Amino acid sequence: MNHFLFGIYPYIALAIFFLGTLVRYDREQYSWKTGSSQMLESKALKLGSRPFHIGIIMVLLGHFVGLLTPHQVWDFLGITASMKQVFAMAMGGFFGIICLFGLVVLIKRRLGNERIRATSSTMDIALLFILLVQLLLGLLSIFVSAGHMDGEEMLKLMSWAQNMVILNGVAASAAIADVHIIFKLHVFLGMTLFVIFPFSRLVHIWSVPVSYFSRNYQIVRSK
Ligand code: HEM
Repeated sequence: MNHFLFGIYPYIALAIFFLGTLVRYDREQYSWKTGSSQMLESKALKLGSRPFHIGIIMVLLGHFVGLLTPHQVWDFLGITASMKQVFAMAMGGFFGIICLFGLVVLIKRRLGNERIRATSSTMDIALLFILLVQLLLGLLSIFVSAGHMDGEEMLKLMSWAQNMVILNGVAASAAIADVHIIFKLHVFLGMTLFVIFPFSRLVHIWSVPVSYFSRNYQIVRSK
């Protein structure tokens, strides 16, 4: 079961993620959007969406660098596993809390505002709750980490991620086999987010609007 969940399932999830988004982009162009609801309500959106996005983007960048940088690089820089762990706990905790605040506001808005509720799909609502559970598991893992500050657990998770990338699922699932259940749930749900991705508004992440920085302003007049 461990090998299936952490050595095989991630590849199934990534296949659905890549192929699913490709098919959706090809066949469902008009559904490829953030699903903005700013037109219906903008005050709570601003209060929630900004901290949510700042938090989640920083947390995801941290995951990317933290999990995928080979530990030889950290050794070379003189950064020990426990130093890295402290840094990950502090940054993850800080931006995780910012993200959590935003997400709670977004959930309250989506369920509490009549107009937003009426125009929400089941997926819009489910996605916010799945992100909430994933975020809470991530924040909870900080307390698990605090129980042993030797950085060992983190090395196992790095080894899992890096072995996955080089297509060594057997070594990956072995590396993660005895980490704390909170980490396992967090990794499993993280992979499940890749499965959900093509069927949700998360597809908007592929379309980072980089050209915003260089294009001319759009004039939007208020009433
Ligand atoms: C790459 C940069 C990103 C940009 C530019 C961006 C942009 C947007 C925009 C414009 C909206 C619509 C807000 C509205 O007007 O209603 C939105 C909503 C949303 N985004 Fe992003 N996003 C980004 C990354 C992410 C990431 C990494 C995640 C999560 C993993 C995410 C999750 C969401 C969710 C869940 C909503 C819906 C919030 C609600 O309930 O209204 N976004 N995003």
